[in-house]
Amino acid sequence: MTTSPTITEDATVPTPAVPAGAAGALTIDLGAIAENYRRLRAAFLEKPLAAVVKADAYGLGVEQVAPVLVKEGARSVFVAQPDEAIALRPLLDRCHPAISLYVLNGLMPGTEDDLLAHSVLPVLNSLGEIDAWRAAASRHGRALPAAIQVDSGMNRLGLPAEEVAVLKEAPERLQGIVPTCVMSHLACADEPAHPQNAEQLAAFRAARESLPKAPASLCNSSGIFLGRDYHFDLGRPGAAVYGVNPTPAAPSPVLPVVRLQARILQVRAIDAPQSVGYGATPRAPGPARIATVAAGYADGYLRSISGRGRAWVDGHEIPVVGRISMDLLALDVTKIAPEAAAPGCMVDLLGPQHGVDQLAQEAGTIGYEILTALGRRYHRTYLG
Ligand SMILES: Cc1ncc(COP(=O)(O)O)c(C=O)c1O
Repeated sequence: MTTSPTITEDATVPTPAVPAGAAGALTIDLGAIAENYRRLRAAFLEKPLAAVVKADAYGLGVEQVAPVLVKEGARSVFVAQPDEAIALRPLLDRCHPAISLYVLNGLMPGTEDDLLAHSVLPVLNSLGEIDAWRAAASRHGRALPAAIQVDSGMNRLGLPAEEVAVLKEAPERLQGIVPTCVMSHLACADEPAHPQNAEQLAAFRAARESLPKAPASLCNSSGIFLGRDYHFDLGRPGAAVYGVNPTPAAPSPVLPVVRLQARILQVRAIDAPQSVGYGATPRAPGPARIATVAAGYADGYLRSISGRGRAWVDGHEIPVVGRISMDLLALDVTKIAPEAAAPGCMVDLLGPQHGVDQLAQEAGTIGYEILTALGRRYHRTYLG
């Protein structure tokens, strides 16, 4: 249990002291991340869960997040790219002596020795990659561990069925390779009724029959909620750990993790009808007070939110007006008391009342993109 404030249930957490020069305050609740991981593990019937911390832990800071997930029991860690893994290895070694660190994007030609030097394991995504890893094993005179990914229907990464069949006929192609995990990835797990889920499950099961026995892994965050048939031995949740709802058609089983506040720079009264911002996009009639706020698309407040977003000031929901620009956005604060929407006041752009999934909907995107786009100009505070 953390005794520090949390942002999970209410909006009363005090705004951290933000340096005058910062665009805003990004508060990341590590306690909520730990709790989400525990909730997901419970939904996964207490079987092991990996930590998926690619893209700087979905934008939230891998240096802060990875130790939390290792402390919660993660012993397999996935990133996307070799350089991410190599940079992360020393930190993981300080957290725990036996972490398997995998590169999802596979074995890029020429990276074999670097991966070996840093005890990083590739996810082998093709026969070509298997051949290259086998050659590395032979060169180094020892068996090398790796995960093997099969393509069960997403047509993105992994061995297609034809290549799995080749391996079945020629198992010597895996000589010198110790498969630590046979995995695949679901394309439609967030839509439980989608027929592709069952098709991929069947394809994954069939592929496993043709491959050496190894722990199996199929589920991302949403996959965990498809039921135990999908579970196998290891879960790989990312987004839900970071507060994105893995069951979009139902209330979220996870806690919000981020709160984003930005500062009001100026407030102006306009006589309607007047436009606001680039493109002079039209505004509803009526006199209004417009607050200009120090965050824009360079900070990950996406331009597609223009004219559609919502913010919270002093407990009230208020609309974004006009186009989002690079460093600024505008809010209609007409209904807010002037002293609560004055220069220097902070507004909530993301928070308990208005979470990452809602903002994503307003932006016409998914929570994943909102999180990974969060900019570097915010003053970051970690809770818990
Ligand atoms: C292969 C693989 N496994 C697991 C994950 C984690 O997925 P999610 O963030 O949907 O839980 C990802 C993320 O894209 C992935 O590419």
